[in-house]
Amino acid sequence: MVPDLEGRKIVVTGAGNGIGLAAARRLVALGASVALIDRDRAALDAVAVAPGMAKIVCDISVAEEVERAAKEAESALGGVDGLVNAAGVLVQGSLDELSLDQWARSLKVNLLGAVLMCKFLAESLKRAGFATIVNVASVGALRPAKGVSAYSAAKAGLLMFSKCMAVELAPTIRVNAVCPGTIETAMTHGLLADPAIRERLAGGNALGRLGAADEIADVIAYLSGPASSYVNGATVVVDGGSTWL
Ligand SMILES: NC(=O)c1ccc[n+]([C@@H]2O[C@H](COP(=O)([O-])OP(=O)(O)OC[C@H]3O[C@@H](n4cnc5c(N)ncnc54)[C@H](O)[C@@H]3O)[C@@H](O)[C@H]2O)c1
Repeated sequence: MVPDLEGRKIVVTGAGNGIGLAAARRLVALGASVALIDRDRAALDAVAVAPGMAKIVCDISVAEEVERAAKEAESALGGVDGLVNAAGVLVQGSLDELSLDQWARSLKVNLLGAVLMCKFLAESLKRAGFATIVNVASVGALRPAKGVSAYSAAKAGLLMFSKCMAVELAPTIRVNAVCPGTIETAMTHGLLADPAIRERLAGGNALGRLGAADEIADVIAYLSGPASSYVNGATVVVDGGSTWL
């Protein structure tokens, strides 16, 4: 079923690139008005403006910036009834290699950033009467691997935050999480440039290929619309079938 998002007013973070941008475009194509939030002004400037789009530069890890961006989004869209937390950073390194600053950065962007967005948009979302939040976590939140503890622990925290919010904010706001597998975006560009890593990651799932940002955007659109009206507190894994391999 194609979700009908006509008239919805949705904020998407990390919308300058990759999954966030694909989600923003998909939501607009389905009839929603969308506020694109990103800290990267150049990336936002490069996004072709479509009717119903607003762009807001904001670092989601800074509370004052999020508070300001939430107000800007509310006034640009005339209210907010949806939030997609897609902004994230891949912080890699072993326990020995990673500094406390790198750990803090991962937690601040990948976990606290989503918390701040929820906090400063909660009143608007509640006022809407029917609202959705979709948090983009990762398969890293579900299975351990070497060298990604700072990223995966933050994403695992985001998953439990989603579930807690699904209980706390119900029934007005439904909250769900998406766990992408390996998707070709700027985030994975460096990693996938190594042919051996690319082959291992593409071959490490039942479909035998990498994912595309649009394939995550479709699931985000489903979770943001009425077609998923009884889905709440769910973790939707979109990884071609790799988490059990
Ligand atoms: N690409 C993958 O394989 C993959 C897999 C699992 C999960 N994810 C998650 O999906 C989400 C999107 O990732 P992507 O692959 O599209 O990455 P990407 O690097 O292509 O895009 C991420 C966007 O987030 C923005 N961003 C980063 N920190 C920010 C901050 N503090 N404030 C505001 N904006 C900020 C960046 O500027 C960028 O535009 C992330 O949360 C990521 O962890 C990605």
